[in-house]
Amino acid sequence: MKKLIIGFIIFIGSHSVIAQRIAIMGALDQEIAILLDSMKSSKKVNRGGIDFYTGKLKGKKVVVLKAGVGKVNSSYSTAVLTENFKPIALIFTGVAGGLDPEALPGDIVIGEKLVQFDFGQIDTTGFKVSPFRKLNGGRHEELFVYSDQNLVAKSLASSSEIDFEPISGRKPRVFSGVIATGDVFVSNDEKAAMLYAEFGALATEMEGAAVAHICRTLGIPFVIIRSCSDNANNNARVNFNQFVGPASVNSARLVLGILEKL
Ligand code: ADE
Repeated sequence: MKKLIIGFIIFIGSHSVIAQRIAIMGALDQEIAILLDSMKSSKKVNRGGIDFYTGKLKGKKVVVLKAGVGKVNSSYSTAVLTENFKPIALIFTGVAGGLDPEALPGDIVIGEKLVQFDFGQIDTTGFKVSPFRKLNGGRHEELFVYSDQNLVAKSLASSSEIDFEPISGRKPRVFSGVIATGDVFVSNDEKAAMLYAEFGALATEMEGAAVAHICRTLGIPFVIIRSCSDNANNNARVNFNQFVGPASVNSARLVLGILEKL
């Protein structure tokens, strides 16, 4: 009888939605599509209005979700995710606007550190970014939130082994460094140049630093993976529509490579 009970507990543990899972999050349907297609024995559960897909990718237990666009949606999704699934790590996958003149559509940016470029103070001298605030209200001294070093190292290691989809006839290059997050789709030459100059940011997007902040608060190792769909310049919307599909695929391919190394 005792053996039966222990066996039952092990069975429930291994089939439970909260069994040691790696969370993989994107903001858009395209960003998680190939992951959902590749998932073995996927099960859909809804929590807090969000569909979570549990199953296996590359032999690892995962939970995949679409977080929605922007810092509010992605923060809410991260909170619901972490409360319900207790992930052991989080990988964000998706597209971004390249800011480094070298980071062209298709290129991959691994976010080593994240900054919210629209969190700060505005006064008569203009707008100044502030370090993020702790949950208890305390000011954090740093402007940047750092990704987990081990996940960054694994991302870099696997990026050299991935067969990325060529975009505009070029094989994607891989960069790692700063990603600047804000609640705006940047499609403006001057703003793009300013984000590059002020933060040394290689890319801009709308979720990474928010997710990073929550993961840091909760002590969950994370990494933000982005593939450039555009250059955040005056032509960004056109390029985004053109490249969001293949860029999403390349980012997701890297995620599959990272999972193989975990
Ligand atoms: N995601 C993809 N391209 C972007 C851009 N130009 N600005 C913000 N988020 C993006």
